[in-house]
Amino acid sequence: MKDIYILGIETSCDETSIAIVKNGSEDIATMILSQMDIHAKYGGVVPEIASRTHAENITLVLDELFSKTILTMEDMSAIAVTYAPGLLGSLLVGLEFAKTLALVYEKPLIKVHHLAGHIYANNLEKKMEFPILALLVSGGHTELVLMKKDHHYEVLGATLDDAVGEVYDKVAKVLDLPYPGGPNIEQYAKSGQNNYPLPIPMQNESLDFSYSGLKSAIINLVYHEKQKGNAINKNDLACSFQVVAVDELIRKTELAIKQTKVKRLIVAGGVSANQYLRSQMAELASKHQIELSIPVMKYCTDNATMIAAAAYPLFLLGNFADFSLNAEALKKLS
Ligand code: KG4
Ligand code: ZN
Repeated sequence: MKDIYILGIETSCDETSIAIVKNGSEDIATMILSQMDIHAKYGGVVPEIASRTHAENITLVLDELFSKTILTMEDMSAIAVTYAPGLLGSLLVGLEFAKTLALVYEKPLIKVHHLAGHIYANNLEKKMEFPILALLVSGGHTELVLMKKDHHYEVLGATLDDAVGEVYDKVAKVLDLPYPGGPNIEQYAKSGQNNYPLPIPMQNESLDFSYSGLKSAIINLVYHEKQKGNAINKNDLACSFQVVAVDELIRKTELAIKQTKVKRLIVAGGVSANQYLRSQMAELASKHQIELSIPVMKYCTDNATMIAAAAYPLFLLGNFADFSLNAEALKKLS
């Protein structure tokens, strides 16, 4: 069979990324231009600046990508793009760019949900087999999803309030650590002790998550200690928070494993870069003798490689989008 090359485009948040993936699994070339340094000054992503920066950089990213390979636009089989969810202005930059390329080069257009991209990042290591349970943990999502076949998503549970990555970022902020908070909290936690008592979220059998209570408890604790003139041990608080946050992910994933009896588990999304989560998940998988897959670090946070990988099964199904495709900021995985 002829090799399929898909050009993936991802601009849903603060990374301008374009990649070429062969046959859904081989990363031929990837470019990621992060705006992290720009947004760090403001302590978080500023949507207007994000979309403007995508617009300024996207053609440069494409040129740079093609300078890394002998392939040309003519060799591409399709153009895939993240159309949802994310920052509307940012999504629109990628989407309009993808439509323009598809029109000019006469290529089919494939729409990819950002979370599907995170899941399919796992195909860049080893092809997923179904049924499979996916734990999605990012800045905007915390979900347990059952997949019985390609691009079929049964959401078993989701956060009722904050996403776990969002809380990592918030806790980092109250501890005066720079954006993005997740990797910094992880670093601080490494030399800390779990000795701040914090509330355990949602002590029930539901597969939903709730992180707002934990978040508020930490904000209040820091506030009260400051009022009393007491210093916060940032390492210890980062460690105590991380233990509670990750234990909750493990506990709910274990419940889902028992309920679904699946033998394969994947973890995806930005927070899956966290080493403590990775090691706890490995223990859980070995306890239940299930196969665990977590993307290598470079595919955990946002990238276009995962978008092109997710588009491949859609390409095989002939599942193409037309030019009326619009961006959707809040669309759920379905
Ligand atoms: O998937 P992602 O890059 O963007 C979204 O789709 O949201 O995830 C970003 C989130 C941020 O909240 C960031 O703090 C978190 O992932 N994150 C981490 C780590 N690396 C990124 N959280 C904990 N530990 C990390 N090492
Ligand atoms: Zn993401």
